[in-house]
Amino acid sequence: MIYLDNAATTLLKPPGVAEAVANAISTFGSPGRGAHSASITASRAVYKARRQIASLIGAESASDIAFCSNATEALNTAIHGIFSNGDHVITTVTEHNSALRPLYLAQMRGTEVSYIHIDSRGILDYKSVEKLIKNNTKAFVINHASNVTGNTAELDFFIELKKKYGLLLITDGAQSAGTLPINVKDIDVFCFTGHKGLMGPQGTGGIYVKPGIKINPLKSGGSGIRSFDRLHPDTMPDALEAGTLNSHSIAGLSCSLEFISKTGVDSIHKKESALCEIFLDNLDRNEDITVYGDVSAEVRVPVISLNISDMSSSYVSGILAEEYGIATRAGAHCAPLIHNALGTAERGAVRFSFSYFNTEDDAIKAAKAVNEIAKYN
Ligand code: ALA
Repeated sequence: MIYLDNAATTLLKPPGVAEAVANAISTFGSPGRGAHSASITASRAVYKARRQIASLIGAESASDIAFCSNATEALNTAIHGIFSNGDHVITTVTEHNSALRPLYLAQMRGTEVSYIHIDSRGILDYKSVEKLIKNNTKAFVINHASNVTGNTAELDFFIELKKKYGLLLITDGAQSAGTLPINVKDIDVFCFTGHKGLMGPQGTGGIYVKPGIKINPLKSGGSGIRSFDRLHPDTMPDALEAGTLNSHSIAGLSCSLEFISKTGVDSIHKKESALCEIFLDNLDRNEDITVYGDVSAEVRVPVISLNISDMSSSYVSGILAEEYGIATRAGAHCAPLIHNALGTAERGAVRFSFSYFNTEDDAIKAAKAVNEIAKYN
């Protein structure tokens, strides 16, 4: 199979990731819950992974990062833990449902939400943003990179505005972590997942919280410390981690983080961008094939969505899988507002998403398959 659904989950993992999980399953106790070697080994592995994440995103301390099960849990933690009745939030139509649905829930509880729109290439309408800011605006919730178009948001633009107006910047890094260089120096909350660009196991991810920002936790429970307190500890990272962590998978994530650090995010980004270019160069550019997004932008994540003639995206994705052995993702990609804006709400789009472990041959074969489907169907 040629696997081009890496924006959902990277299938090919760096060497040693699977073995690290297997080894952890048979050697780890509960991290932070015992003085015996099995527990201490697990605690050390979790701490190592925390440090690796901190170093990848430029956090000052490993304790600024709490592990979550994925970016969805991290975004829910941020959105439900920061906003209350009467707050106003500015977000974008490029958000995934992992941000939109918690925002809709917050809206039902009295938080106001405004949206930044996009043009036909999926680029945010930056000119409109300052006008959306009101007295009760508390934060920007911004998708760093779209899982539909691969376009990225200009975080520096939001950083400047958030400083000018004293707002928070909450960033969804689900598609960018591991693929684009990230520095959280001026970002207040950064949400990420482990199973996409970080090339680790599913069930891992986390939230970076700038020291001083208060998040009411989604969950409370066992923390391994201060067991007689009725309230969950409020110091990071324990504040946002209730219950035993998925340390087995975090050990796998740690292994992939080591690979990313050795390889370098810049090299990863360069290779993934080159694969996208090869794919685009080999696509027939005719009216039967519509490619979405600002594919010529310098800074993008390796995601290209397209449609062929008036065919439904599921039909095309099905032919790619069955006749060519190429895995893509069709439909709305859990990102309804961007599909509304691009005019693809009804049939969705066929998404090709590349990873560091794809080859030039994968990109060429995928483009040729699209050309053939466009010609013969
Ligand atoms: N968020 C994932 C995707 O875009 C699942 O496919």
